Amino acid sequence: MVLRSPGGAARCRAAGAVNAGHGLTAPALPPWREAGNRRRSGRRRPTFARVDDAEFLDPRLVAVYDAQNRWSRDDDFFSCVVGPPGARVLDLGCGTGRLTLGLAAAGHTVTGVDPAPASLAAARAKPGAEAVTWVDGTSALLPTDAFDVVVMTSHVAQFLLDDDAWAAVLADLARALVPGGRLTFDSRDPAARAWERWPTERSELVPLPDGTAVHTWTVVTGVDGGADGAVVGFDNGYRFTDGTELVSSGRLRFRTEQELRTSLAAAGFAVEELYGGWAREPVGAGDGELLVVVRRG
Ligand SMILES: C[S@@+](CC[C@H](N)C(=O)[O-])C[C@H]1O[C@@H](n2cnc3c(N)ncnc32)[C@H](O)[C@@H]1O
Repeated sequence: MVLRSPGGAARCRAAGAVNAGHGLTAPALPPWREAGNRRRSGRRRPTFARVDDAEFLDPRLVAVYDAQNRWSRDDDFFSCVVGPPGARVLDLGCGTGRLTLGLAAAGHTVTGVDPAPASLAAARAKPGAEAVTWVDGTSALLPTDAFDVVVMTSHVAQFLLDDDAWAAVLADLARALVPGGRLTFDSRDPAARAWERWPTERSELVPLPDGTAVHTWTVVTGVDGGADGAVVGFDNGYRFTDGTELVSSGRLRFRTEQELRTSLAAAGFAVEELYGGWAREPVGAGDGELLVVVRRG
């Protein structure tokens, strides 16, 4: 993976102009339910395994995640929020460490925390990983008054489904930050109803480092709620060149701006910035995101 180091003031001003650079777009593929082999009798013989959160737990799917998620304008945005070198930064839900390693390379003292061992193993194997403190776990393990900035990127916040779990993470982060420390994260705005576009947007042919490619697609399996807040279930399907088919199931919580503001205030955070897009557009006018920068009181 080629890491572009996080930029200085010029890149921070031009954050919206950086190419996202996600994989190749392939023709729409049939969902995994249609993709199983057929026996001569005509009955389907499924060739897939369906596992909750396999995209972060299965080393083969972790490699696909890495191939699909290169350094992008999201990383530029968060790097700019973190600011000049020398900060003590926590990357909660660091995954395979793309931003974690970029922040370390930029001169920050970085800790990456994630509960998915395969993702963390991929991060630890990357160049520069020795500069980062990697922790296999969740926010419950964090020390007190230890970080200047916390980042939670690529919608980690949406994996906290219920209100109690989300409140517990916010309380952990408030404790782990120094007084006046900042937390920044992204959460998709339910008003944009992104899940309605996933079946077409997420059908991709993804090149892998070994020269093969994998077809990936997403099927939305359920929507509880809507523009006023939702929990969305989905299956990510994968078909490898060798014929292996895997399915990773997950659920994501889409909190409204007001739900985020209320939960952050309850945890003692003051909202400093809240945008709707990576170029710092107002909520509702950007990329269907809620990009949050808050400060511990
Ligand atoms: C979409 S990935 C984002 C990874 C990384 N931040 C990035 O930008 O690529 C979501 C990550 O959140 C992690 N995660 C899920 N539940 C979590 C929790 N309760 N605490 C911390 N991380 C969690 C997953 O293991 C996964 O690595």
